[in-house]
Amino acid sequence: MEVQTDFLVIGSGIAGLSFAIKAAELGTVAIVTKKEKVESSTNYAQGGIAAVTGERDSFESHINDTLTTGSGLSKEDVVRFVVTEGPERIQELIAWGVEFTRAENNYSSTYDLGREGGHSHRRVLHAQDFTGREIERALIEKAGSKQDITMYENFFTINLILESKVRGKKPVDGKRENDKCLGAYVFDVNNNVVHTFRAKFVLLATGGAGKVYLITTNPDIATGDGIAMAYRAGATISNMEFIQFHPTCLYHPEAKSFLISEAVRGEGGELTLKNGATFMEKYHSMKSLAPRDIVAQAIDMELKKSGDDFVLLDITHKKRGFLMTRFPTIYEQCLEFGIDMARDPIPVVPAAHYICGGVVVNSYGETNIDRLFACGEVACTGLHGANRLASNSLLEAIVFSHRALLKISDLLPHTQDEIIPIPPWDPRGATESDESVVVSHNWDEVRSSMWNYVGIVRSDKRLERAKRRIDLITQEIIEYYWNFTITRDLLELRNIATVAKLIIECALQRKESRGLHYNLDYPDRNDSKWLHDTVICRESR
Ligand code: FAD
Ligand code: SIN
Repeated sequence: MEVQTDFLVIGSGIAGLSFAIKAAELGTVAIVTKKEKVESSTNYAQGGIAAVTGERDSFESHINDTLTTGSGLSKEDVVRFVVTEGPERIQELIAWGVEFTRAENNYSSTYDLGREGGHSHRRVLHAQDFTGREIERALIEKAGSKQDITMYENFFTINLILESKVRGKKPVDGKRENDKCLGAYVFDVNNNVVHTFRAKFVLLATGGAGKVYLITTNPDIATGDGIAMAYRAGATISNMEFIQFHPTCLYHPEAKSFLISEAVRGEGGELTLKNGATFMEKYHSMKSLAPRDIVAQAIDMELKKSGDDFVLLDITHKKRGFLMTRFPTIYEQCLEFGIDMARDPIPVVPAAHYICGGVVVNSYGETNIDRLFACGEVACTGLHGANRLASNSLLEAIVFSHRALLKISDLLPHTQDEIIPIPPWDPRGATESDESVVVSHNWDEVRSSMWNYVGIVRSDKRLERAKRRIDLITQEIIEYYWNFTITRDLLELRNIATVAKLIIECALQRKESRGLHYNLDYPDRNDSKWLHDTVICRESR
Protein backbone atom coordinates (compact mmCIF):
# COMPACT_ATOMS: atom_id res chain seq x y z
CA MET A 1 0.00 0.00 0.00
CA GLU A 2 1.12 3.57 -0.58
CA VAL A 3 -0.20 6.10 1.94
CA GLN A 4 -0.14 9.73 0.93
CA THR A 5 -0.34 12.37 3.64
CA ASP A 6 0.71 15.96 4.25
CA PHE A 7 2.61 15.14 7.45
CA LEU A 8 4.18 11.87 8.44
CA VAL A 9 4.86 11.76 12.18
CA ILE A 10 7.05 8.89 13.35
CA GLY A 11 6.36 8.28 17.04
CA SER A 12 3.49 8.80 19.47
CA GLY A 13 5.19 10.25 22.54
CA ILE A 14 4.94 13.88 23.64
CA ALA A 15 6.95 15.20 20.66
CA GLY A 16 4.99 13.39 17.95
CA LEU A 17 1.53 13.85 19.46
CA SER A 18 1.90 17.54 20.35
CA PHE A 19 3.13 18.23 16.82
CA ALA A 20 0.37 16.15 15.21
CA ILE A 21 -2.41 17.93 17.12
CA LYS A 22 -1.27 21.26 15.69
CA ALA A 23 -0.35 19.95 12.23
CA ALA A 24 -3.91 18.64 11.82
CA GLU A 25 -4.97 22.29 11.50
CA LEU A 26 -2.86 22.51 8.33
CA GLY A 27 -3.48 19.19 6.61
CA THR A 28 -3.65 15.43 6.91
CA VAL A 29 -1.45 13.67 9.45
CA ALA A 30 -0.37 10.03 9.62
CA ILE A 31 1.20 8.95 12.91
CA VAL A 32 3.08 5.67 12.71
CA THR A 33 4.11 4.08 15.97
CA LYS A 34 5.93 0.82 16.37
CA LYS A 35 3.86 -0.65 19.24
CA GLU A 36 0.61 0.33 20.91
CA LYS A 37 0.17 4.10 20.84
CA VAL A 38 0.85 4.74 24.55
CA GLU A 39 4.14 2.84 24.52
CA SER A 40 6.74 5.58 24.76
CA SER A 41 9.22 6.97 27.29
CA THR A 42 6.76 9.80 27.75
CA ASN A 43 4.30 7.37 29.27
CA TYR A 44 6.78 6.44 32.03
CA ALA A 45 7.97 9.94 32.94
CA GLN A 46 7.61 10.43 36.67
CA GLY A 47 9.16 13.62 38.05
CA GLY A 48 7.46 16.10 35.74
CA ILE A 49 8.07 19.01 33.45
CA ALA A 50 10.23 21.98 34.39
CA ALA A 51 8.93 25.50 33.74
CA VAL A 52 8.98 28.81 35.49
CA THR A 53 5.55 29.27 37.07
CA GLY A 54 6.37 29.91 40.74
CA GLU A 55 6.28 33.46 42.11
CA ARG A 56 9.76 33.33 43.56
CA ASP A 57 11.28 31.64 40.52
CA SER A 58 12.68 33.45 37.46
CA PHE A 59 13.61 32.71 33.84
CA GLU A 60 17.22 33.71 34.61
CA SER A 61 17.39 31.12 37.36
CA HIS A 62 16.07 28.29 35.13
CA ILE A 63 18.41 29.43 32.34
CA ASN A 64 21.40 29.44 34.68
CA ASP A 65 20.59 26.00 36.11
CA THR A 66 20.29 24.59 32.59
CA LEU A 67 23.56 26.18 31.46
CA THR A 68 25.44 25.07 34.57
CA THR A 69 24.24 21.49 34.20
CA GLY A 70 25.09 21.55 30.47
CA SER A 71 28.78 22.00 31.41
CA GLY A 72 29.63 24.61 28.79
CA LEU A 73 28.03 22.96 25.76
CA SER A 74 24.42 24.15 26.00
CA LYS A 75 23.64 26.85 23.43
CA GLU A 76 22.54 29.92 25.35
CA ASP A 77 20.08 31.19 22.72
CA VAL A 78 18.34 27.79 22.66
CA VAL A 79 18.24 27.57 26.47
CA ARG A 80 16.78 31.06 26.59
CA PHE A 81 13.90 30.43 24.18
CA VAL A 82 13.06 26.99 25.59
CA VAL A 83 12.84 28.39 29.12
CA THR A 84 10.93 31.55 28.21
CA GLU A 85 8.48 29.82 25.85
CA GLY A 86 7.92 26.99 28.35
CA PRO A 87 5.07 28.49 30.39
CA GLU A 88 2.98 29.14 27.25
CA ARG A 89 3.41 25.54 26.11
CA ILE A 90 2.45 24.32 29.60
CA GLN A 91 -0.77 26.35 29.37
CA GLU A 92 -1.46 24.60 26.08
CA LEU A 93 -1.03 21.17 27.71
CA ILE A 94 -3.44 22.24 30.43
CA ALA A 95 -5.94 23.46 27.81
CA TRP A 96 -5.66 20.05 26.10
CA GLY A 97 -6.69 18.39 29.34
CA VAL A 98 -3.46 17.57 31.23
CA GLU A 99 -4.20 17.70 34.95
CA PHE A 100 -1.15 18.65 36.96
CA THR A 101 -1.26 18.20 40.73
CA ARG A 102 -2.44 21.37 42.42
CA ALA A 103 -0.95 22.94 45.50
CA GLU A 104 -2.53 21.91 48.80
CA ASN A 105 -5.97 21.03 47.53
CA ASN A 106 -7.79 20.46 44.28
CA TYR A 107 -9.44 23.88 44.39
CA SER A 108 -6.20 25.85 44.44
CA SER A 109 -5.42 27.79 41.28
CA THR A 110 -1.69 27.17 41.59
CA TYR A 111 0.25 24.00 40.97
CA ASP A 112 2.38 21.96 43.30
CA LEU A 113 6.01 22.34 42.23
CA GLY A 114 8.50 19.55 42.71
CA ARG A 115 12.24 19.91 43.14
CA GLU A 116 14.88 17.87 41.34
CA GLY A 117 18.66 17.69 41.04
CA GLY A 118 20.44 20.79 39.71
CA HIS A 119 17.38 23.06 40.09
CA SER A 120 17.81 25.97 42.47
CA HIS A 121 14.03 26.39 42.83
CA ARG A 122 10.96 24.23 43.04
CA ARG A 123 9.74 24.42 39.43
CA VAL A 124 8.67 20.96 38.27
CA LEU A 125 4.99 20.61 37.43
CA HIS A 126 3.85 17.07 37.93
CA ALA A 127 0.86 14.77 38.16
CA GLN A 128 1.77 12.97 41.40
CA ASP A 129 4.49 10.58 40.20
CA PHE A 130 2.82 9.60 36.90
CA THR A 131 3.24 12.84 34.98
CA GLY A 132 4.08 11.11 31.70
CA ARG A 133 1.06 8.83 31.83
CA GLU A 134 -1.21 11.83 32.40
CA ILE A 135 0.36 13.80 29.52
CA GLU A 136 0.19 10.80 27.18
CA ARG A 137 -3.46 10.18 28.10
CA ALA A 138 -4.50 13.76 27.39
CA LEU A 139 -2.54 14.01 24.13
CA ILE A 140 -3.88 10.71 22.80
CA GLU A 141 -7.41 11.82 23.61
CA LYS A 142 -6.86 15.17 21.92
CA ALA A 143 -5.24 13.60 18.84
CA GLY A 144 -8.05 11.05 18.69
CA SER A 145 -10.58 13.87 18.45
CA LYS A 146 -8.99 15.22 15.25
CA GLN A 147 -10.46 13.85 12.05
CA ASP A 148 -7.36 14.61 10.04
CA ILE A 149 -5.12 12.42 12.18
CA THR A 150 -4.80 8.72 11.38
CA MET A 151 -2.87 6.57 13.84
CA TYR A 152 -1.10 3.41 12.62
CA GLU A 153 -0.15 1.17 15.56
CA ASN A 154 2.44 -1.60 15.27
CA PHE A 155 3.84 0.16 12.21
CA PHE A 156 7.63 0.10 12.44
CA THR A 157 9.51 2.65 10.34
CA ILE A 158 12.48 0.99 8.69
CA ASN A 159 14.09 3.71 6.60
CA LEU A 160 13.54 7.25 5.38
CA ILE A 161 13.05 7.71 1.65
CA LEU A 162 15.30 10.27 0.01
CA GLU A 163 14.84 11.94 -3.36
CA SER A 164 18.47 11.20 -4.30
CA LYS A 165 17.94 7.46 -3.71
CA VAL A 166 14.69 7.35 -5.67
CA ARG A 167 16.17 9.25 -8.60
CA GLY A 168 19.41 7.25 -8.37
CA LYS A 169 21.46 10.48 -8.34
CA LYS A 170 23.61 12.14 -5.70
CA PRO A 171 22.15 15.40 -4.35
CA VAL A 172 23.39 18.58 -6.09
CA ASP A 173 27.03 19.25 -5.09
CA GLY A 174 26.83 16.07 -2.98
CA LYS A 175 25.21 18.16 -0.22
CA ARG A 176 22.47 16.74 1.99
CA GLU A 177 20.79 20.18 2.14
CA ASN A 178 20.00 19.63 -1.52
CA ASP A 179 18.39 16.28 -0.86
CA LYS A 180 14.78 15.89 0.16
CA CYS A 181 12.96 13.47 2.43
CA LEU A 182 9.92 12.09 0.59
CA GLY A 183 8.57 9.75 3.27
CA ALA A 184 9.45 6.40 4.78
CA TYR A 185 9.18 2.64 4.36
CA VAL A 186 7.13 1.27 7.23
CA PHE A 187 6.83 -2.37 8.32
CA ASP A 188 3.30 -3.41 9.28
CA VAL A 189 4.34 -5.86 11.98
CA ASN A 190 1.02 -7.69 12.35
CA ASN A 191 0.59 -8.32 8.63
CA ASN A 192 4.24 -8.74 7.72
CA VAL A 193 4.23 -6.26 4.84
CA VAL A 194 6.14 -3.06 4.14
CA HIS A 195 4.18 0.03 3.11
CA THR A 196 5.34 3.26 1.52
CA PHE A 197 4.36 6.47 3.31
CA ARG A 198 4.73 9.57 1.17
CA ALA A 199 4.54 13.00 2.83
CA LYS A 200 5.27 16.67 2.25
CA PHE A 201 7.03 16.82 5.63
CA VAL A 202 8.36 14.11 7.91
CA LEU A 203 8.80 14.52 11.67
CA LEU A 204 11.08 12.10 13.48
CA ALA A 205 9.79 11.80 17.05
CA THR A 206 11.13 8.35 17.85
CA GLY A 207 12.54 9.06 21.32
CA GLY A 208 15.71 7.77 22.94
CA ALA A 209 18.04 4.79 22.94
CA GLY A 210 18.35 3.44 26.49
CA LYS A 211 18.04 -0.15 25.24
CA VAL A 212 21.56 0.14 23.83
CA TYR A 213 22.61 -0.49 27.45
CA LEU A 214 22.07 -3.60 29.56
CA ILE A 215 20.63 -1.68 32.49
CA THR A 216 18.23 1.11 31.65
CA THR A 217 15.18 2.93 32.92
CA ASN A 218 13.80 3.06 29.37
CA PRO A 219 10.91 1.03 27.95
CA ASP A 220 11.50 -1.51 25.19
CA ILE A 221 10.70 0.96 22.38
CA ALA A 222 13.82 3.01 23.13
CA THR A 223 16.15 1.46 20.56
CA GLY A 224 17.39 4.65 18.89
CA ASP A 225 15.62 3.87 15.58
CA GLY A 226 15.25 7.54 14.61
CA ILE A 227 18.91 8.34 15.19
CA ALA A 228 19.99 5.24 13.26
CA MET A 229 17.71 5.86 10.27
CA ALA A 230 18.59 9.57 10.13
CA TYR A 231 22.28 8.64 10.18
CA ARG A 232 21.76 6.14 7.36
CA ALA A 233 20.01 8.90 5.39
CA GLY A 234 22.96 11.27 5.87
CA ALA A 235 21.66 13.53 8.63
CA THR A 236 24.22 15.12 10.92
CA ILE A 237 24.50 13.44 14.33
CA SER A 238 26.08 15.04 17.36
CA ASN A 239 27.16 14.61 21.01
CA MET A 240 26.33 10.92 21.25
CA GLU A 241 28.89 10.40 24.03
CA PHE A 242 26.64 12.22 26.49
CA ILE A 243 24.53 9.39 27.91
CA GLN A 244 22.74 10.31 31.08
CA PHE A 245 22.73 7.61 33.74
CA HIS A 246 19.91 8.13 36.21
CA PRO A 247 21.31 7.55 39.70
CA THR A 248 18.29 5.76 41.12
CA CYS A 249 16.83 2.80 39.29
CA LEU A 250 15.26 0.21 41.60
CA TYR A 251 17.64 -2.67 42.33
CA HIS A 252 15.69 -5.91 42.56
CA PRO A 253 16.22 -9.17 40.66
CA GLU A 254 12.64 -9.15 39.38
CA ALA A 255 12.27 -5.43 38.64
CA LYS A 256 12.68 -4.50 34.99
CA SER A 257 13.66 -0.86 34.44
CA PHE A 258 11.76 0.72 37.30
CA LEU A 259 12.78 4.30 38.05
CA ILE A 260 12.73 5.85 41.50
CA SER A 261 12.12 9.48 40.62
CA GLU A 262 14.59 12.19 41.48
CA ALA A 263 11.59 13.93 43.04
CA VAL A 264 12.03 11.48 45.95
CA ARG A 265 15.36 13.15 46.66
CA GLY A 266 13.64 16.49 46.00
CA GLU A 267 11.36 15.70 48.96
CA GLY A 268 14.29 14.93 51.24
CA GLY A 269 15.29 11.37 50.28
CA GLU A 270 18.98 10.77 51.03
CA LEU A 271 21.47 8.42 49.46
CA THR A 272 23.41 6.21 51.83
CA LEU A 273 25.66 3.20 51.68
CA LYS A 274 24.32 -0.17 52.81
CA ASN A 275 25.55 0.58 56.34
CA GLY A 276 23.49 3.79 56.45
CA ALA A 277 26.44 6.19 56.04
CA THR A 278 25.81 9.21 53.79
CA PHE A 279 28.44 9.93 51.11
CA MET A 280 27.20 12.62 48.73
CA GLU A 281 28.62 15.44 50.91
CA LYS A 282 32.06 14.30 49.69
CA TYR A 283 31.12 15.00 46.07
CA HIS A 284 28.95 18.14 45.88
CA SER A 285 27.51 20.90 48.04
CA MET A 286 23.98 20.00 46.86
CA LYS A 287 24.59 16.48 48.23
CA SER A 288 21.91 14.00 47.06
CA LEU A 289 20.36 16.71 44.89
CA ALA A 290 23.51 17.45 42.90
CA PRO A 291 23.24 17.22 39.07
CA ARG A 292 22.81 13.65 37.85
CA ASP A 293 26.26 13.15 36.32
CA ILE A 294 27.84 13.86 39.71
CA VAL A 295 25.43 11.66 41.66
CA ALA A 296 25.75 8.74 39.22
CA GLN A 297 29.56 8.98 39.17
CA ALA A 298 29.64 9.19 42.97
CA ILE A 299 27.48 6.06 43.33
CA ASP A 300 29.63 4.24 40.77
CA MET A 301 32.78 5.10 42.75
CA GLU A 302 31.25 4.11 46.07
CA LEU A 303 30.04 0.78 44.68
CA LYS A 304 33.48 0.06 43.25
CA LYS A 305 35.06 0.88 46.62
CA SER A 306 32.64 -1.17 48.72
CA GLY A 307 32.04 -4.03 46.29
CA ASP A 308 28.31 -3.70 47.03
CA ASP A 309 25.67 -4.16 44.33
CA PHE A 310 23.54 -1.15 45.29
CA VAL A 311 23.25 1.91 47.49
CA LEU A 312 20.16 2.95 49.44
CA LEU A 313 17.71 5.79 49.03
CA ASP A 314 16.23 6.63 52.38
CA ILE A 315 13.00 8.64 52.73
CA THR A 316 11.73 6.83 55.80
CA HIS A 317 11.62 10.10 57.77
CA LYS A 318 8.52 11.12 55.76
CA LYS A 319 5.03 10.13 56.84
CA ARG A 320 3.43 7.16 55.11
CA GLY A 321 0.41 9.27 54.11
CA PHE A 322 2.62 11.81 52.36
CA LEU A 323 4.53 9.11 50.47
CA MET A 324 1.35 7.38 49.36
CA THR A 325 -0.13 10.63 48.01
CA ARG A 326 2.99 12.15 46.48
CA PHE A 327 4.48 8.93 45.08
CA PRO A 328 1.61 6.43 44.62
CA THR A 329 3.23 4.54 41.73
CA ILE A 330 6.61 4.21 43.38
CA TYR A 331 5.04 3.28 46.71
CA GLU A 332 2.95 0.51 45.12
CA GLN A 333 5.74 -0.83 42.90
CA CYS A 334 8.16 -1.00 45.84
CA LEU A 335 5.56 -2.81 47.96
CA GLU A 336 5.13 -5.37 45.17
CA PHE A 337 8.81 -6.15 45.55
CA GLY A 338 8.53 -6.35 49.34
CA ILE A 339 9.97 -2.89 50.03
CA ASP A 340 7.92 -0.61 52.25
CA MET A 341 9.41 2.80 51.44
CA ALA A 342 7.91 4.34 54.59
CA ARG A 343 9.97 1.88 56.65
CA ASP A 344 12.76 0.53 54.44
CA PRO A 345 15.42 2.41 52.47
CA ILE A 346 15.09 1.57 48.77
CA PRO A 347 17.98 -0.28 47.04
CA VAL A 348 19.02 1.63 43.90
CA VAL A 349 21.64 1.60 41.13
CA PRO A 350 22.43 3.95 38.24
CA ALA A 351 20.96 3.02 34.85
CA ALA A 352 21.12 4.45 31.31
CA HIS A 353 18.29 6.96 31.12
CA TYR A 354 18.59 9.65 28.45
CA ILE A 355 20.63 10.49 25.37
CA CYS A 356 21.62 14.16 25.12
CA GLY A 357 22.98 13.76 21.59
CA GLY A 358 21.07 12.82 18.48
CA VAL A 359 19.99 14.24 15.14
CA VAL A 360 21.21 17.82 14.82
CA VAL A 361 18.42 20.35 14.33
CA ASN A 362 18.22 24.13 14.19
CA SER A 363 15.99 26.29 16.38
CA TYR A 364 12.95 25.13 14.39
CA GLY A 365 13.62 21.41 14.51
CA GLU A 366 14.93 21.27 10.92
CA THR A 367 17.61 18.69 10.14
CA ASN A 368 20.17 19.12 7.36
CA ILE A 369 17.89 17.16 5.00
CA ASP A 370 15.13 19.17 3.35
CA ARG A 371 11.60 18.41 4.68
CA LEU A 372 12.96 16.24 7.51
CA PHE A 373 12.33 17.58 11.02
CA ALA A 374 13.16 15.99 14.37
CA CYS A 375 12.10 16.77 17.91
CA GLY A 376 12.00 15.23 21.34
CA GLU A 377 14.72 12.91 22.60
CA VAL A 378 15.82 11.88 19.09
CA ALA A 379 17.03 15.41 18.40
CA CYS A 380 20.13 17.27 19.47
CA THR A 381 18.90 20.85 19.83
CA GLY A 382 21.70 22.45 21.86
CA LEU A 383 19.55 22.68 25.01
CA HIS A 384 21.20 19.99 27.10
CA GLY A 385 24.83 20.33 26.05
CA ALA A 386 26.94 17.80 27.96
CA ASN A 387 24.25 17.00 30.54
CA ARG A 388 20.50 17.44 30.81
CA LEU A 389 18.86 19.24 33.69
CA ALA A 390 16.15 17.04 35.24
CA SER A 391 12.66 17.43 33.74
CA ASN A 392 13.89 19.60 30.87
CA SER A 393 13.23 16.98 28.19
CA LEU A 394 9.43 16.99 28.19
CA LEU A 395 9.75 20.77 28.06
CA GLU A 396 12.18 20.64 25.13
CA ALA A 397 9.84 18.33 23.22
CA ILE A 398 6.81 20.64 23.42
CA VAL A 399 8.75 23.81 22.70
CA PHE A 400 10.41 22.29 19.63
CA SER A 401 7.31 20.58 18.27
CA HIS A 402 5.61 23.99 18.34
CA ARG A 403 8.55 25.67 16.61
CA ALA A 404 8.72 22.94 13.96
CA LEU A 405 5.06 23.59 13.24
CA LEU A 406 5.68 27.34 12.92
CA LYS A 407 8.43 26.72 10.38
CA ILE A 408 6.35 24.23 8.43
CA SER A 409 3.40 26.61 8.23
CA ASP A 410 5.76 29.08 6.52
CA LEU A 411 7.12 26.46 4.12
CA LEU A 412 3.88 24.69 3.28
CA PRO A 413 2.45 27.22 0.78
CA HIS A 414 5.66 26.90 -1.27
CA THR A 415 5.68 23.10 -1.52
CA GLN A 416 3.73 22.30 -4.65
CA ASP A 417 5.98 19.47 -5.75
CA GLU A 418 5.93 17.16 -8.72
CA ILE A 419 5.02 13.65 -7.55
CA ILE A 420 8.19 11.60 -7.82
CA PRO A 421 7.36 7.89 -8.22
CA ILE A 422 8.69 5.90 -5.24
CA PRO A 423 9.49 2.24 -5.86
CA PRO A 424 7.87 -0.17 -3.39
CA TRP A 425 10.05 -1.82 -0.74
CA ASP A 426 12.35 -4.42 -2.28
CA PRO A 427 12.66 -7.58 -0.13
CA ARG A 428 15.55 -8.79 -2.38
CA GLY A 429 14.57 -12.46 -2.31
CA ALA A 430 15.17 -12.77 1.42
CA THR A 431 14.13 -16.03 3.05
CA GLU A 432 13.01 -16.85 6.57
CA SER A 433 15.80 -17.52 9.03
CA ASP A 434 16.02 -20.73 11.06
CA GLU A 435 18.67 -19.15 13.29
CA SER A 436 16.93 -16.30 15.03
CA VAL A 437 18.94 -17.15 18.15
CA VAL A 438 21.77 -15.18 16.46
CA VAL A 439 19.64 -12.07 16.75
CA SER A 440 19.00 -12.49 20.46
CA HIS A 441 22.68 -13.31 21.18
CA ASN A 442 23.76 -10.19 19.35
CA TRP A 443 21.21 -8.09 21.24
CA ASP A 444 22.74 -9.28 24.53
CA GLU A 445 26.27 -8.73 23.30
CA VAL A 446 25.72 -5.16 22.13
CA ARG A 447 24.03 -4.22 25.40
CA SER A 448 26.60 -5.90 27.66
CA SER A 449 29.55 -4.45 25.73
CA MET A 450 28.09 -0.96 26.03
CA TRP A 451 27.37 -1.40 29.73
CA ASN A 452 30.81 -2.82 30.51
CA TYR A 453 32.99 -0.60 28.35
CA VAL A 454 31.04 2.57 27.50
CA GLY A 455 29.32 3.19 30.83
CA ILE A 456 29.63 5.90 33.48
CA VAL A 457 33.43 5.67 33.62
CA ARG A 458 35.30 5.15 30.34
CA SER A 459 38.87 4.83 29.13
CA ASP A 460 40.35 4.74 25.64
CA LYS A 461 41.18 1.06 26.08
CA ARG A 462 37.61 0.21 27.09
CA LEU A 463 36.20 2.25 24.22
CA GLU A 464 38.50 0.52 21.69
CA ARG A 465 37.47 -2.86 23.08
CA ALA A 466 33.79 -1.96 22.66
CA LYS A 467 34.46 -0.69 19.13
CA ARG A 468 36.06 -3.98 18.06
CA ARG A 469 33.09 -5.94 19.37
CA ILE A 470 30.45 -3.68 17.86
CA ASP A 471 32.24 -3.67 14.47
CA LEU A 472 32.20 -7.45 14.42
CA ILE A 473 28.57 -7.70 15.43
CA THR A 474 27.68 -5.07 12.82
CA GLN A 475 29.18 -7.23 10.07
CA GLU A 476 27.05 -10.18 11.19
CA ILE A 477 23.93 -8.03 11.38
CA ILE A 478 24.44 -6.62 7.88
CA GLU A 479 24.81 -10.13 6.47
CA TYR A 480 21.72 -11.27 8.32
CA TYR A 481 19.74 -8.20 7.30
CA TRP A 482 20.31 -8.71 3.58
CA ASN A 483 19.72 -12.47 3.57
CA PHE A 484 16.72 -13.00 5.79
CA THR A 485 13.21 -11.58 6.00
CA ILE A 486 12.93 -8.70 8.42
CA THR A 487 11.48 -8.93 11.89
CA ARG A 488 11.04 -6.23 14.51
CA ASP A 489 13.87 -7.77 16.58
CA LEU A 490 16.26 -7.71 13.66
CA LEU A 491 15.41 -4.11 12.73
CA GLU A 492 15.90 -2.99 16.32
CA LEU A 493 19.15 -4.92 16.62
CA ARG A 494 20.48 -3.18 13.52
CA ASN A 495 19.54 0.17 15.05
CA ILE A 496 21.00 -0.41 18.53
CA ALA A 497 24.26 -1.55 16.91
CA THR A 498 24.36 1.63 14.80
CA VAL A 499 23.65 3.82 17.80
CA ALA A 500 26.29 1.96 19.83
CA LYS A 501 28.82 2.64 17.07
CA LEU A 502 27.90 6.35 17.03
CA ILE A 503 28.22 6.63 20.83
CA ILE A 504 31.64 4.98 20.76
CA GLU A 505 32.84 7.16 17.86
CA CYS A 506 31.83 10.37 19.63
CA ALA A 507 33.30 9.13 22.92
CA LEU A 508 36.60 8.35 21.19
CA GLN A 509 36.66 11.80 19.58
CA ARG A 510 36.32 13.69 22.86
CA LYS A 511 39.72 13.71 24.59
CA GLU A 512 38.59 15.23 27.89
CA SER A 513 36.00 14.65 30.61
CA ARG A 514 32.92 16.86 30.62
CA GLY A 515 29.38 16.48 31.91
CA LEU A 516 28.21 12.95 31.25
CA HIS A 517 31.41 11.84 29.53
CA TYR A 518 34.08 10.74 32.00
CA ASN A 519 37.29 9.25 30.58
CA LEU A 520 40.00 8.07 33.01
CA ASP A 521 42.69 8.88 30.42
CA TYR A 522 41.60 12.55 30.27
CA PRO A 523 40.04 13.19 33.68
CA ASP A 524 39.85 17.00 33.32
CA ARG A 525 37.64 19.33 31.37
CA ASN A 526 39.61 21.09 28.64
CA ASP A 527 37.84 24.26 27.51
CA SER A 528 40.69 25.45 25.33
CA LYS A 529 40.31 22.44 23.00
CA TRP A 530 36.91 20.88 23.60
CA LEU A 531 34.34 23.60 24.06
CA HIS A 532 32.48 22.25 21.03
CA ASP A 533 30.19 19.42 19.94
CA THR A 534 31.34 16.12 18.48
CA VAL A 535 29.85 15.67 15.01
CA ILE A 536 29.34 12.65 12.76
CA CYS A 537 27.85 12.55 9.28
CA ARG A 538 27.76 9.59 6.94
CA GLU A 539 29.16 10.52 3.57
CA SER A 540 26.65 10.71 0.75
CA ARG A 541 27.01 7.66 -1.45
P1 FAD B 1 8.96 8.90 23.31
O1 FAD B 1 8.01 9.39 24.31
O2 FAD B 1 9.91 7.84 23.73
O3 FAD B 1 8.15 8.40 22.06
C1 FAD B 1 8.80 7.77 20.99
C2 FAD B 1 7.77 7.16 20.09
O4 FAD B 1 8.37 6.73 18.87
C3 FAD B 1 7.10 5.93 20.66
O5 FAD B 1 5.74 6.00 20.34
C4 FAD B 1 7.75 4.77 19.90
O6 FAD B 1 6.96 3.63 19.79
C5 FAD B 1 7.93 5.43 18.55
N1 FAD B 1 8.96 4.81 17.71
C6 FAD B 1 10.27 4.62 18.00
N2 FAD B 1 10.88 4.04 16.94
C7 FAD B 1 9.96 3.88 15.98
C8 FAD B 1 9.97 3.33 14.69
N3 FAD B 1 11.06 2.76 14.15
N4 FAD B 1 8.82 3.32 13.96
C9 FAD B 1 7.68 3.82 14.48
N5 FAD B 1 7.61 4.34 15.72
C10 FAD B 1 8.73 4.37 16.46
N6 FAD B 1 11.77 13.65 31.22
C11 FAD B 1 11.29 14.74 31.86
O7 FAD B 1 11.39 15.86 31.33
N7 FAD B 1 10.68 14.58 33.06
C12 FAD B 1 10.52 13.38 33.66
O8 FAD B 1 9.94 13.29 34.74
C13 FAD B 1 11.04 12.24 33.02
N8 FAD B 1 10.94 11.00 33.60
C14 FAD B 1 11.35 9.91 32.88
C15 FAD B 1 11.16 8.65 33.43
C16 FAD B 1 11.49 7.51 32.71
C17 FAD B 1 11.26 6.15 33.29
C18 FAD B 1 12.05 7.66 31.41
C19 FAD B 1 12.41 6.45 30.61
C20 FAD B 1 12.28 8.92 30.88
C21 FAD B 1 11.94 10.04 31.60
N9 FAD B 1 12.13 11.33 31.09
C22 FAD B 1 11.65 12.42 31.76
C23 FAD B 1 12.61 11.51 29.72
C24 FAD B 1 11.39 11.76 28.82
O9 FAD B 1 10.33 10.93 29.24
C25 FAD B 1 11.69 11.47 27.36
O10 FAD B 1 12.87 12.11 26.98
C26 FAD B 1 10.55 12.00 26.50
O11 FAD B 1 9.33 11.45 26.94
C27 FAD B 1 10.79 11.65 25.05
O12 FAD B 1 9.64 11.97 24.33
P2 FAD B 1 9.61 11.67 22.78
O13 FAD B 1 8.27 12.07 22.30
O14 FAD B 1 10.79 12.26 22.16
O15 FAD B 1 9.81 10.09 22.69
C1 SIN C 1 12.78 11.52 37.41
O1 SIN C 1 11.60 11.56 37.76
O2 SIN C 1 13.73 11.35 38.18
C2 SIN C 1 13.09 11.66 35.96
C3 SIN C 1 13.19 13.07 35.62
C4 SIN C 1 13.89 13.25 34.31
O3 SIN C 1 14.43 12.31 33.75
O4 SIN C 1 13.92 14.38 33.84
